Amino acid sequence: MKMAETQLGLAPLLLYLVVVVLSGSALVVESGIGVNWGTISSHRLSPSTVVDLLKDNKIHKVKLFDADPGSLRALMGSGIEVMVGIPNELLALLSSSTAAADLWVSQNVSRYMVKGGTNIKYIAVGNEPFLASYSGQFQSYVIPALTNIQQSLVKANLAAIVKLVVPCNADAYESSLPSQGTFRPELTQIITQLVSFLNSNGSPFMVNIYPFLSLYGNSDFPQEYAFFEGTTHAVTDGPNVYYNAFDGNFDTLVAALGKLGYGQMPIVVGEVGWPTDGALGANLTAARAFNQGLVNHVLGNKGTPLRPGVPPMDIYLFSLLDEGAKSILPGNFERHWGIFSFDGQAKYSLNLGLGNGLLKNAKDVQYLPSRWCVADPSRDLSGVSNHFRLACTVADCTTLNYGGSCNGIGAKGNISYAFNSYYQIQKQKSLSCDFDGLGMVTFLNPSVGECRFLVGITDNHSSGIGLHSWSFIVWWLVFWIFWMLLM
Ligand SMILES: *[C@@H]1O[C@H](CO)[C@@H](O)[C@H](O)[C@H]1NC(C)=O
Ligand SMILES: *[C@@H]1O[C@H](CO)[C@@H](O)[C@H](O)[C@H]1NC(C)=O
Ligand SMILES: *[C@@H]1O[C@H](CO)[C@@H](O)[C@H](O)[C@H]1NC(C)=O
Ligand SMILES: *[C@@H]1O[C@H](CO)[C@@H](O)[C@H](O)[C@H]1NC(C)=O
Repeated sequence: MKMAETQLGLAPLLLYLVVVVLSGSALVVESGIGVNWGTISSHRLSPSTVVDLLKDNKIHKVKLFDADPGSLRALMGSGIEVMVGIPNELLALLSSSTAAADLWVSQNVSRYMVKGGTNIKYIAVGNEPFLASYSGQFQSYVIPALTNIQQSLVKANLAAIVKLVVPCNADAYESSLPSQGTFRPELTQIITQLVSFLNSNGSPFMVNIYPFLSLYGNSDFPQEYAFFEGTTHAVTDGPNVYYNAFDGNFDTLVAALGKLGYGQMPIVVGEVGWPTDGALGANLTAARAFNQGLVNHVLGNKGTPLRPGVPPMDIYLFSLLDEGAKSILPGNFERHWGIFSFDGQAKYSLNLGLGNGLLKNAKDVQYLPSRWCVADPSRDLSGVSNHFRLACTVADCTTLNYGGSCNGIGAKGNISYAFNSYYQIQKQKSLSCDFDGLGMVTFLNPSVGECRFLVGITDNHSSGIGLHSWSFIVWWLVFWIFWMLLM
């Protein structure tokens, strides 16, 4: 296929150029819809495969949780707007040392901001550092770290290009009615300093909003209110009526900002989404309904009662990919937030409104051989519980739980599922399917119904200029010569 391209005649060449120019111009359109790209996974796609996935889906904004060199290198030259992240654990150091801040900026930002480099637009300083369950342990570092990093950006001549933000959990504010929104009393002082800082640097306020968690954590929460299809449980707040939890939450923040004198501050939603597995209510139908409803709602530019016609500046869906090694402290759904599964396959049809139709799968993903590890049906499995526990400590078994896609597969099915998850994480090493002789390798896919027994990936493409980029460059050279001849 690639070779044939160079033998095309002039007409297809012109057509190709038109397509190139058009898709080039599409890159500058501000869509407002981005994704979070987390990497806490035992089966990681290579960064270049992920970046191709973003490009194929015309996703132009991506939020990272760190500044992983592999990811940032793969994003070079893509034009994709990138938010890098500073983990909470680094805040103490960065708040106390300007030298550490300078070094962090030079190693994780400046070095990529070269011609043809990575388009870093934001640095997220900490991740939900005010989360109530952190009991304030990161709180006092946030403003000093912001100040130091900002100074480092100024020194590096990047302050006009790269903006600092602080992703806040929605638990930073509270109220029963949106118009009554206020920040938690113990945060008032620090949030006042934060918004003043953001305002003077032209940065937006960033918040993570999760109607799923409201529903999950509260059996009285009216289910339809979490979605965007209308509800019999609308919330009336003076003259305003709220038909979905997202708008209600958003306006609670708007009101809280207003009380500090920043009611007009732009808001970016740093995380929003719906999980597909591991708990009741976490399923494909609900996730599709929520995410599609959200995208349509935001792109409809309706805004909210307190900000009519002004939707959030940007929203970043949580998440791009499933992350099977995340902590399940929040719940068994935590490893299943992806709009794509761990291997870059779309879980459901979703139109991100980026002019691209439905989600497109990752291409050329390399899998391990098609084989699985299951419990040997001829063996007595009464002594298996330690193996089961160990396998599920190392690997992901969260779909087996109540509400999960593999919950109904029976006791033996459970054991096979655990064995296989472990075997795949161990890259199918033969000893990893032993389990004191209770395991056996099969070539028949043991998946049942919605319950998928996975095959791991060996996706280790080298990053850098791929074949497609080369053919792109060659075509531009041809175009250039052709143009010069015409002049
Ligand atoms: C910053 O860059 C260094 C050097 O490349 C890297 O080791 C480190 O992990 C990066 N920091 C973060 C928070 O990602
Ligand atoms: C999916 O979740 C929604 C609520 O989030 C629930 O109403 C629905 O019954 C669930 N569907 C299935 C098939 O479990
Ligand atoms: C399968 O495992 C899950 C999770 O440990 C458990 O909730 C369920 O009851 C098990 N099913 C059977 C039939 O043992
Ligand atoms: C990818 O990894 C597999 C094993 O994990 C190895 O056999 C293979 O040679 C690697 N391929 C490349 C291109 O590095």
